[in-house]
Amino acid sequence: MTTIRWLGHSAFHIQTPESSLLIDPFFTGNPKAPDNAKDIRADFILVSHGHGDHVGDALEIAKRDNATIITNYEIAGWFEAKGVKAHGMQHGGGFQFPFGRCKLTLAFHGSALPDGSNGGNPAGFLITFNNGKTFYDAADTGLFGDMRLIGDHKVDVAALPIGDNYTMGPDDALKAVEFLRPGRVIPIHYNTFPIIEQDAHKWAHDVRSLTTCQALVLEIGGSVEL
Ligand code: NI
Ligand code: MN
Repeated sequence: MTTIRWLGHSAFHIQTPESSLLIDPFFTGNPKAPDNAKDIRADFILVSHGHGDHVGDALEIAKRDNATIITNYEIAGWFEAKGVKAHGMQHGGGFQFPFGRCKLTLAFHGSALPDGSNGGNPAGFLITFNNGKTFYDAADTGLFGDMRLIGDHKVDVAALPIGDNYTMGPDDALKAVEFLRPGRVIPIHYNTFPIIEQDAHKWAHDVRSLTTCQALVLEIGGSVEL
């Protein structure tokens, strides 16, 4: 069994039978992160793009746990130069890791690193776990039509930003659900800061009314199982 636990903003902890994964571990300076989030031990840390609210505590945790960072080629080089292991990829490419296959997907956003270094292009993650179940984390992005193609992979659980301003807002995220046709969807990247405040329950209600997808508004620290 694989458990996907939301840690606020875009951060997830995924526990598979093989590995412990963190995605976009933004804990320090995140007013909504659980207190003990930084204590979670990781084998792999997935970083979607270079912005501080996604790189977060990745370096510190990777050093502590000897974890491997999975990210785009440019960000991988940035982490390697700081002395941690990284596996660089590019969009459309996938790789078989111990926990399953991870593919980098398109995302429309920026990716400059906190120190101004070139962070390449932002990505989402399409992960097919060894039990055959699929998780798509769109990360920070606007709506794009090729989400229809991602939907052809039969997505079991999708995580979509709904915060607006920096990413899709609720209306476009609803359209994204129509494109992706996931079994379940989790809204992310909202209510961390005033500028991305949204009514996730209203959004989930709209998803349930207009699609067959099960929309789940997770509490911070709440989880789904696959
Ligand atoms: Ni961002
Ligand atoms: Mn962000």
